Amino acid sequence: MFSPSMLGGDFSRAGEDLEAIAASGADYAHFDVMDGQFVPEITFGAKFIEDLRPLSDLVFDVHLMIENPERHIERFIKAGADKITVHAESTRHLWRVLSMIKESGKDAGVAINPATSVSFIEPVLSIADSVLVMTVNPGWGGQKFIPQTVEKIKELDSRRAESGFDYTIGADGGVGRNNIQHLFQSGMDIAVMGTSFFNEEDKGSFLRSLEESVE
Ligand code: DX5
Ligand code: ZN
Repeated sequence: MFSPSMLGGDFSRAGEDLEAIAASGADYAHFDVMDGQFVPEITFGAKFIEDLRPLSDLVFDVHLMIENPERHIERFIKAGADKITVHAESTRHLWRVLSMIKESGKDAGVAINPATSVSFIEPVLSIADSVLVMTVNPGWGGQKFIPQTVEKIKELDSRRAESGFDYTIGADGGVGRNNIQHLFQSGMDIAVMGTSFFNEEDKGSFLRSLEESVE
């Protein structure tokens, strides 16, 4: 499955970018919320998502790169998020935040930075609907993929098989034609793509060709 990231587009044409994501046949639209604290950049808040919500039936996949996300969960749910991913490094209350998201009937995701190991989130794997492995250091689009992160995808995949947990595994950062086959084979279910998606003229055939490359 694919989750193209709005960050790879042009915010002055956000509505058109969202339509392009839907027309490509992607399953999700990925929204990168940055607060200038957890990561250096600031992108947008809940209103951006709220204003775009009526334009699309896509699953809104909201990636919160913000400190203390527990303060903002309710607002992002109200804005129309279908899935909310919080960073394990951003809160002292990870279990509580994930529970808040789930109690609202939305999908709860946990993200880990390149320097964070899978064992750090082991206690919450039973309640997580998804795990997002950062394959770059979060904060900007267009960075170079960090190959060492693939081991964590494999570890999450085998942990899932042993335990019977049913989280999905995502990869975010520097994902594209060069590494997607390896990522899917390693256990990734959802590819987040900003730059590689928006660089393509024909986004639909791009996604289909990626799918074919892994079949
Ligand atoms: C990075 C963001 C990503 C970003 C990926 O901090 O979480 O979702 O949009 O962009 P690319 O695909 O350009 O690496
Ligand atoms: Zn992201």
